[in-house]
Amino acid sequence: MKDMAFEEWIARLRAEGDIVGVIAEYVPLKRKGKNYWGCCPFHHEKTPSFSVAADKGFFYCFGCQAGGNVINFLMKIENLSFFEAARLLAQKLNIPVPEKEKTAQEMAREKELAKLYRANELAKEFFQACLLKSAYGKEPLQYLEQRGISEEIIQRFQIGFSPPAWDKLSLALKQRGLADDVMVRAGLALQREKGEGVYDRFRGRIMIPISDARGRVVGFGGRVLDEGQPKYLNSAESLVFNKRQLLFGFSVAQKTIRQMGQAIVMEGYMDVIAAHQAGVENAVASLGTAFSPEQAKLLLREASEIVIAYDSDAAGQSATQRALEILRGMGAKVKVLSVPEGKDPDGFLRRKGGEAFRKLMEEAPSSLEYQVTKAFEAGDAATLDGKVAIVNRAVQVLAASDNAVEINDYVIRLAQRLQIDESAVRSELRKVMGKHRSLRSNTQITGRNWNKQAHLAMEQAERYLLRLMWEDHSLIPYVSAQVGAEDFLDERRREIAAMVLAGGPEVESDWQVVLTAGREESLQQELSYIMHLDIAPEDVVRLVDDCVKTIRNNSLQARFERHKQQAEELERIGDRTYLQELAEMQRIQDEINKLRQG
Ligand code: UTP
Ligand code: MN
Repeated sequence: MKDMAFEEWIARLRAEGDIVGVIAEYVPLKRKGKNYWGCCPFHHEKTPSFSVAADKGFFYCFGCQAGGNVINFLMKIENLSFFEAARLLAQKLNIPVPEKEKTAQEMAREKELAKLYRANELAKEFFQACLLKSAYGKEPLQYLEQRGISEEIIQRFQIGFSPPAWDKLSLALKQRGLADDVMVRAGLALQREKGEGVYDRFRGRIMIPISDARGRVVGFGGRVLDEGQPKYLNSAESLVFNKRQLLFGFSVAQKTIRQMGQAIVMEGYMDVIAAHQAGVENAVASLGTAFSPEQAKLLLREASEIVIAYDSDAAGQSATQRALEILRGMGAKVKVLSVPEGKDPDGFLRRKGGEAFRKLMEEAPSSLEYQVTKAFEAGDAATLDGKVAIVNRAVQVLAASDNAVEINDYVIRLAQRLQIDESAVRSELRKVMGKHRSLRSNTQITGRNWNKQAHLAMEQAERYLLRLMWEDHSLIPYVSAQVGAEDFLDERRREIAAMVLAGGPEVESDWQVVLTAGREESLQQELSYIMHLDIAPEDVVRLVDDCVKTIRNNSLQARFERHKQQAEELERIGDRTYLQELAEMQRIQDEINKLRQG
């Protein structure tokens, strides 16, 4: 859909959609200087760090780094796709949606989706009526009551009951005009082997609806009332029911998760229901399957902290390890809650209540602490072999962390607990870390002279330069004659630079339209940060020159380092072409000198 008509429509929405007005519907804003400020709706905070730059059309949170244009804001707060958010804004502004030629395939897909959502919604209503308004409901209501589930929670989770018969649901859905094949594709009914028609998939089960992130029912988990098998029968996977993408309880817990900045992930339906029953309202479940990266992303859109609270049996423990693997490197703060005595959170919550559970949450160890503690299971700490095994496991875990203070702390504790020399642990750690680092540095330009300060200087130069060109397009040819997008260090800024530098000096320019209509969140975040920079240089050209110089210098240094490494390598293996590398290094050095003098 990357046609100009669409991009122009977005540009019009952005121009006419008053970003302050739209955001103020969700967040109270106060003007301070040029920008408007409020408490960020995307993470929990008491003092405002959420800013809207009205003149530029961007919002940015200095606390959680959420940022983007007015459409990105609507996407995030209303949980919409880019196009849906744009359409919502268009509605608000009374701007018609451009006629998009839908392919026959797209139209068929949309129709099918609508049918499946409707089938599930009607089924949910039918099951609810059976539980609450029919004689079928007696036994299941008793069951739920005996499990401590109140009527309020039954309503909140829209729990129902499927009658113990073969065709009650299919008949009810047929009466509402639903075709047999739709029920089958929705995973609610099965084709009869002999004879015509279909029969119900769920019979005599407590029906727990599972909704997608937007609150649409897409499937069910059905629990038997007795010891029958399977304990839970789930809807068949369908176009709308994809377990990897779904989290049970998400739409119920979403608001609390966002407000608290924290989500608890449990194993089972009943754990989540019991949690909400006990007032722990940020709990969701990963639907019996392994925690997936898609589920992690869904949660991390709302919260930065994730508490894993799986069952404390062996299966739960290994599922915890896998979940920690998935969450590693996703920038989440992760804790692991272990339920003492007894197996699952459900049991604990019912016996001890929400307060006691919250206490467990506060005391829950960080994922690092949890894993280091686990490492002690790798061997017997009283024997030498055992110590070696434990240290090996522990340094693997520590090497993956990027918090030096924390790592150091654990090294000391590990040495003390095992009664070995700290330096021995450190030397093992260094070996593993070396491997990690060299893997990482291949993807980055890192020379020996590289340090944090240089990095910050580059970051600032790149951002200033982009902002200055954004505001004054006549600078673009001047800059592009001296630096290229590939000279930018940061990937997002490289992408922005590529668009800007390719753009011409005209004031009205397509590249700006395309960039701000962008759908990629991290890029929009960076862009809105750049738009929030407070710069008012007295001498614009001088600032541009400084930035260009920083960027060129860095790029030359990196090239110099690359040739140097190449030269060393060639010399080591006795290849005389290393002399060419030396010559190239000299040329680069000359250029660097010139740059320094100029
Ligand atoms: P559990 O057996 O721990 O379920 O399975 P639970 O929620 O504690 O059930 P109760 O308390 O005995 O009622 C954890 C999750 O695994 C999936 C379900 O999502 C369940 O909540 N599961 C389990 C199934 O899908 N089918 C099964 O037969 C069993
Ligand atoms: Mn359980």
